[in-house]
Amino acid sequence: MRTKVTVIGAGNVGATTAQRLAERGYADVVLVDIVDGLPQGKALDMYEASPVIGIDSSITGATDYGPTAGSDIVVITSGVARKPGMSRDDLLQINMGIVDSVTRAAIAESPDATIVVVSNPLDAMCHVAYDAAGIPSSRVVGMAGILDTARYRSFLAEAINVSVEDINAFVLGGHGDTMVPLASYTTAAGIPITKLLPQDQLDQIIQRTRDGGAEIVNLLKTGSAFYAPSAAVAQMVDAIALDKRRILPCAALLNGEYGVDGLFIGVPVVLGQNGIEQILEISLTDEEQSQLQHSADAVQGLVDDMARLSQNNGG
Ligand code: LAC
Repeated sequence: MRTKVTVIGAGNVGATTAQRLAERGYADVVLVDIVDGLPQGKALDMYEASPVIGIDSSITGATDYGPTAGSDIVVITSGVARKPGMSRDDLLQINMGIVDSVTRAAIAESPDATIVVVSNPLDAMCHVAYDAAGIPSSRVVGMAGILDTARYRSFLAEAINVSVEDINAFVLGGHGDTMVPLASYTTAAGIPITKLLPQDQLDQIIQRTRDGGAEIVNLLKTGSAFYAPSAAVAQMVDAIALDKRRILPCAALLNGEYGVDGLFIGVPVVLGQNGIEQILEISLTDEEQSQLQHSADAVQGLVDDMARLSQNNGG
């Protein structure tokens, strides 16, 4: 039997994720959106490609959650992007409402699913999904670290002029300005990166990585990145569906690890069939630890904002 994966949100990130997963051949994919016709049309288009690609997966679209029943993995990409004139609170309030309601609807049909959160602001939306789902925190995992790390690895490979495959790295922390690229764990085929690149060039690459999402937004003008984000989501789904036990940087609920308690933040985890099989606590330099704490403080700020917004709402 194939793994069943539901992807909620048929925008660029959701649809591209559905396509990447369907084309792997091991999963049946259900694409869900509130806009009638959008998930059905995109899913049908993907299905019609399957004879050419050579896969027998089913790819269906729906505006209700009935067809998602019994999913092994639910990927949540729903939410709006920030529009001109919209404050950060506006965005937070809208997306927390959306992520809360889609999580409740999805988990009601698939109580045993592992949830992969992609909606932004990522770390805050992990909290919303976790609270709404009422499932163990090991089954709620956020996608950001792989994307941030992929950007970092791409820029490093380009600078050193070697294969992207040879660059191993970790970017931890929140998804945003406070992300923490770990130079001490960055290597090219095991060679410390600091032996291959001068510090000023490394610093530039770290800054470009932090600004990676904005760089794409500024180029596209009408939206944000989706090819690299969907590739990152698909790698997480692979790890869970195929029980690969990959070590990947993902947003996980910390319970004292790294001195952080009760917050979702990007850390190295072992990802397998039970979701987060283990949170790896690696030693950090004092500076990295303080950057991670700064990142945790930023996530805490968003969590506090959400509590205030839902109280104002009487919720
Ligand atoms: C990015 C947004 C989508 O980093 O979070 O591209």
